[in-house]
Amino acid sequence: MKNILAPSILAADFKELGQAIKTIEENGAEYLHYDVMDGIFVPSISFGMPVLASIRSCTKQVMDVHLMITEPIRYIKEFKEAGADLITIHLEACEDVAATIKAIREAGLKVGLSIKPATEAEAIRPYLDQIDMILVMSVEPGFGGQKFIPESLDKIRALRAMVEEAGVDVDIEVDGGVNAANVRDVLDAGANVIVAGSAVFKNDAAANTREFLKIFDEYSAK
Ligand code: DX5
Ligand code: ZN
Repeated sequence: MKNILAPSILAADFKELGQAIKTIEENGAEYLHYDVMDGIFVPSISFGMPVLASIRSCTKQVMDVHLMITEPIRYIKEFKEAGADLITIHLEACEDVAATIKAIREAGLKVGLSIKPATEAEAIRPYLDQIDMILVMSVEPGFGGQKFIPESLDKIRALRAMVEEAGVDVDIEVDGGVNAANVRDVLDAGANVIVAGSAVFKNDAAANTREFLKIFDEYSAK
């Protein structure tokens, strides 16, 4: 299984956003994690379609769009047009999860399904054959820079077992409080797409990106 780094630009310096993206791309990050917040599903508000459309032209990275918004089905078309490759929705934010997944699929995009820390792994099971990725929130969604919730590791393990048992090809992404010191535990538990905001963009983003990728390399060589 391939391990992928998805730096979250929520932690970048927005006045230098183009440069920040260039740095992570040049240093090998395959995904760009784009956190959209609506002030309703989560307390904060981040950015939306116009910023995505603007940065789409400056990178070839996979645009990994994490919609922390209520009823995301309303905006699938807009985020596709703005440049999303993969759209992750929250199970808790949708009245009709299956219809929302279908809307993303019909737009020709990959589908991620996310659960908050309080939502059981089992909630994912009914959708396993309809999605490309599970996103396990390892902090309460809404803000970067929080501390990793250790119980998330059990949830990742349970979901990896569920994916294997079902024999489906589904990535497991982990988001929140991941850094170079705890990422091995996250990989051990069975995650393979790693979101990191502060741990990439605080201080030296180039060195931080390379450090994560070095850990991934060492890890796959084991
Ligand atoms: C939180 C966001 C995360 C956040 C991660 O709601 O979904 O993607 O940017 O930031 P760190 O890695 O700083 O916890
Ligand atoms: Zn996120």
